Amino acid sequence: MPPAPRVTAPAFAAKKKRGEKLAILTAYDYPTARMIDSAGVDGILVGDSLAMVVQGHETTLPVTLEQMIYHAEMVGRAVKRALVIVDLPFPIHHLGRHAVVEAAGKIMKQARVQAVKLEGGVEQADTIASLTRAGIPVMAHCGLGPQSVHTLGGYRVQRDRERLMADAQAAAGAGAFAMVLECVPSDIAREISASIEIPTIGIGAGGDCDGQVLVTHDLLGMHSGYVPKFVKRYANLGEQVVSAVAGFCDEVRSGKFPGADHEFQ
Ligand code: KIV
Repeated sequence: MPPAPRVTAPAFAAKKKRGEKLAILTAYDYPTARMIDSAGVDGILVGDSLAMVVQGHETTLPVTLEQMIYHAEMVGRAVKRALVIVDLPFPIHHLGRHAVVEAAGKIMKQARVQAVKLEGGVEQADTIASLTRAGIPVMAHCGLGPQSVHTLGGYRVQRDRERLMADAQAAAGAGAFAMVLECVPSDIAREISASIEIPTIGIGAGGDCDGQVLVTHDLLGMHSGYVPKFVKRYANLGEQVVSAVAGFCDEVRSGKFPGADHEFQ
């Protein structure tokens, strides 16, 4: 059978037009990206959440551009079908048009991925337009922007309807091909989704968004920290790993492993 065609950035808007929901997950390494891709997601996000779920930081702020590229390269090599999107790490998209196009270009060249994501709406419209003009598809990220956790005073639901609507309109008008809506009340997310042509990808924004994204470590139960209300756990791999490793330790110590099946005669 020929390989399934690659999901493209314009295909996201086409799916919204047809009323098809988009499923997106994060990945930060080759084996995880392969599994997620073969399960049929539409998009794989190399999110700056890797600072928290892989590097063990308290916020997404510490991850660097070089580290994002290191992880994006592994994901870019693994994925054959889904659209791969890479987060621009703090504070690159606040450093001016030249700096942001240079950084996004570096990500696209080295990691061979298809799009970038950045946090912000109205204040990032010029940046989104510059990247789009440079041929770089941009996914916007409105609502709760984790990179602004210190100005927001925590990871809180964003309820300013006027501001959220203005951000969404500005990002869509500037050429973003899709938009994450994070921690936004469902009625506002519904209104935004109905008012723009590009798909909204919700995380804590209710079921009327045009798609959903989750952090894979949350979905698989591999992250032991705080679990937000919007997360649904589909597996508990963290517990399975601990139990498998404890089994290995027991069998090594008792002499049960390796047995005859695992020896060379
Ligand atoms: O960094 C990330 O994983 C994200 C998602 C939570 C949308 O931005």
